[in-house]
Amino acid sequence: MRIDIVTIFPDPVRAMLDYSIIGRARERGALTVEVHDLREWARDRHRSTDDYPFGGGAGMVMKPEPVCEAVEALREQTQAKRAVYLTAQGRLLTQALVEELAAEDALILVSGHYEGLDERARQLAITDEVSIGDYVLTGGELPALVLTDAVARLQPGVLGSVAPADE
Ligand SMILES: C[S@@+](CC[C@H](N)C(=O)[O-])C[C@H]1O[C@@H](n2cnc3c(N)ncnc32)[C@H](O)[C@@H]1O
Repeated sequence: MRIDIVTIFPDPVRAMLDYSIIGRARERGALTVEVHDLREWARDRHRSTDDYPFGGGAGMVMKPEPVCEAVEALREQTQAKRAVYLTAQGRLLTQALVEELAAEDALILVSGHYEGLDERARQLAITDEVSIGDYVLTGGELPALVLTDAVARLQPGVLGSVAPADE
């Protein structure tokens, strides 16, 4: 399985994925996880990813264009059918949903920030909205890592050669 995570904080996400069972599974090739900086798809001089909400409202949201372009490019590259936006307003992540997502060959995960993702990007680029619990975090990085961990451990060969204490 391949998972692509889109975030404005790629370094801490990459660092977490290098360790323990997931890190070793990636090294063995039992799982592919790629982390992408959303700013790669930001077009303006400052590579900004936030904007005022379309139609008004308080705070800033994530600009739709970089998210839509990132998801489109990754879809083409990986053939992923599902692009998941992590949000407190999404479908609760249960083991049943983890099993459903783990059956995909590829997934794209979008981590939000600010007041969330612009509504147009939600409509155009996102197929699923998933919450890891009934509380609000400051960003979608931890939720993306939680989802990745839960889905990864169901992949063949990921838990294969680890001691029970590690699992
Ligand atoms: C401050 S929150 C945004 C709050 C905003 N009012 C909303 O509900 O979209 C910033 C980001 O954190 C992530 N997030 C926060 N809580 C979450 C949760 N329980 N499950 C999944 N993602 C969450 C989302 O990616 C969200 O875009």
